[in-house]
Amino acid sequence: MAESMKGMKRTHRCGELSAANIGEKVTVMGWVQKQRNKGGIIFVDLRDRAGILQVIFEEADCGAENFAKAEKLRSEFVAAVTGRVEKRAGAVNENLATGEIEVRAEEVRILSEAETPPFPIEENSRTKEELRLKYRYLDLRRPDLQRNLILRSRMTAAVHAFLKEEGFLEVETPILNKSTPEGARDYLVPSRIHQGCFYALPQSPQIFKQLLMCSGYDRYFQIARCFRDEDLRADRQPEFTQIDLEMSFVDMEDVLDVTERMVARVCKETVGLEIPLPLKRMTWDEAMNRFGSDKPDTRFGMELTDVSETVKGCGFGVFTGALEAGGSVRGINVKGQAEMPRKKIDALVEFAKGYGVKGLAYLAVLPDGSYKSSFAKFMSEEELKNLVAAMGGEPGDLLLFAADKLKLVWSVLGALRVELARQLGMLDENQYNFLWVTEFPQFEWSDEEERYVAMHHPFTMPMEEDLDILETEPGKVRAKAYDIVVNGMELGGGSVRIFQSDIQERMFEALGFTKEKAHEQFGFLLDAFKYGVPPHAGLAIGLERFVMLLAQTDNIRDVIAFPKIKDASCLMSDAPGRVEEKQLEELHLQVTE
Ligand code: AMO
Ligand code: AMP
Repeated sequence: MAESMKGMKRTHRCGELSAANIGEKVTVMGWVQKQRNKGGIIFVDLRDRAGILQVIFEEADCGAENFAKAEKLRSEFVAAVTGRVEKRAGAVNENLATGEIEVRAEEVRILSEAETPPFPIEENSRTKEELRLKYRYLDLRRPDLQRNLILRSRMTAAVHAFLKEEGFLEVETPILNKSTPEGARDYLVPSRIHQGCFYALPQSPQIFKQLLMCSGYDRYFQIARCFRDEDLRADRQPEFTQIDLEMSFVDMEDVLDVTERMVARVCKETVGLEIPLPLKRMTWDEAMNRFGSDKPDTRFGMELTDVSETVKGCGFGVFTGALEAGGSVRGINVKGQAEMPRKKIDALVEFAKGYGVKGLAYLAVLPDGSYKSSFAKFMSEEELKNLVAAMGGEPGDLLLFAADKLKLVWSVLGALRVELARQLGMLDENQYNFLWVTEFPQFEWSDEEERYVAMHHPFTMPMEEDLDILETEPGKVRAKAYDIVVNGMELGGGSVRIFQSDIQERMFEALGFTKEKAHEQFGFLLDAFKYGVPPHAGLAIGLERFVMLLAQTDNIRDVIAFPKIKDASCLMSDAPGRVEEKQLEELHLQVTE
């Protein structure tokens, strides 16, 4: 029995009413959160995206027919109510924005009835996420998700306003593209007209934005959908959104300046967060050596110490073995945790092994100055004393060491310090430590492909100082690439681009591309560069990660209306799905089981 809205017009959202509206006649529409029938009086909590409002029904005000309808209201029914705003007769509800008032109903219409939902629509739901994702349209009614999506919308609005003020033009770039197998795996779309050919969905608008610079569009931006077929983690989705920008006639400084002012502006306008500018900067080398990570969480210390020199020639084979193999021995000092139970230390060792090291050595300096350790028996008293001193160890401290290839030591200790900080409650979620990480390595060695691959992408400009060693010592070349990092998360990244064709050619060579292959993949970009190309640079920020930060959630699905789960499927629509034989035929495709 759905009634019509005819003759009724919504005057306010439920959550918008306040004491300022007392005495006004209003019409509100929304979902029934709860109905309580107290005999002659019925209370209904009505909810919309602005909040919850208490409506009160008494036959004397609304008449028998409306009162009978109010009796029928159940959770999630959609109702329209006309009535007068009054000061709340009962106790004021401090938890509700509308807690001081109520609406005394004169008329009610049931616009839609509802079955009992599979889970209660409420804040901080304890319902399993799987069920919530299956009924995402119900989940999205919950205030916490609504707040996140509203925040997201306000953030993109602030981005638009800021970038337009700064003279950026918004340009859309294509979704159906040619595959360029550099970077993550592509999502492919078969072509019906061109048998055996495929489009690739964009991993980012990178090439197109550089072409726009060649075309004179100076300052470009786009809130761009990107697609990457990679293994999902807590902060990754197969389709996600970038705040993507590119600028001409600029160097790194200009990009960092615009970006950090944009980030600060969005934080201030949406959640009132002040971010002191300019942001701190740290080179990649410093970040790795101090924090074991290129996205350091600088909200706490526990920095890495290189003890390779100290333990050289000591009696512990694990340490000396790693050094002889060209590796490194480094440690972290977990202050005041010497008495951490053995079980917890064992769990840390297992955690470390998950990163590929064979073990984790520990040394607890007990309050009486004696040691509890997995390796003390292999070392002399003198060697131990030196090691503790090198670590700045004091009675009460727990020292943890990893010995292996430097890259592995960095990654395990980098992860361990964050894990420990989490366990020990050292992460202040109201502190936002933004910083720039600069001077990334140009190349990364890929064991799999047995060649150097671009750490950022092949269009990134090396630092001028390092151009001479591009061919001789590629591993040492630093790039004009930068990431904006906050609290251990990579928020965004970009680079100054190569605009000189001779350097670009040397770059492709260093990456093991033949001239033909480079031309086949990036020909149109290389051609464009022949016709007048401005110096340019840019960056992209991961919008979801930015929203996660300000919404204070560590689940990327909480800031996306219809997200995918870990295996890249959608629990609500069941995408991806099989298609009709006829569709496959049209696409000249056959599925092999
Ligand atoms: P990059 O690959 O570093 O750079 O991506 C930029 C930012 O996008 C976000 N991001 C993701 N967010 C959610 N899910 C994913 N799977 C995902 N992958 C990346 C991150 C990341 O920092 N074209 C270059 C930018 C440039 O050079 O201008 C690019 O795409 O926050
Ligand atoms: P083992 O001699 O293998 O029993 O190891 C002695 C101690 O060294 C144990 O605490 C191991 O966890 C630790 N250990 C083993 N491999 C490493 C490594 N690569 N780095 C640091 N400690 C390690």
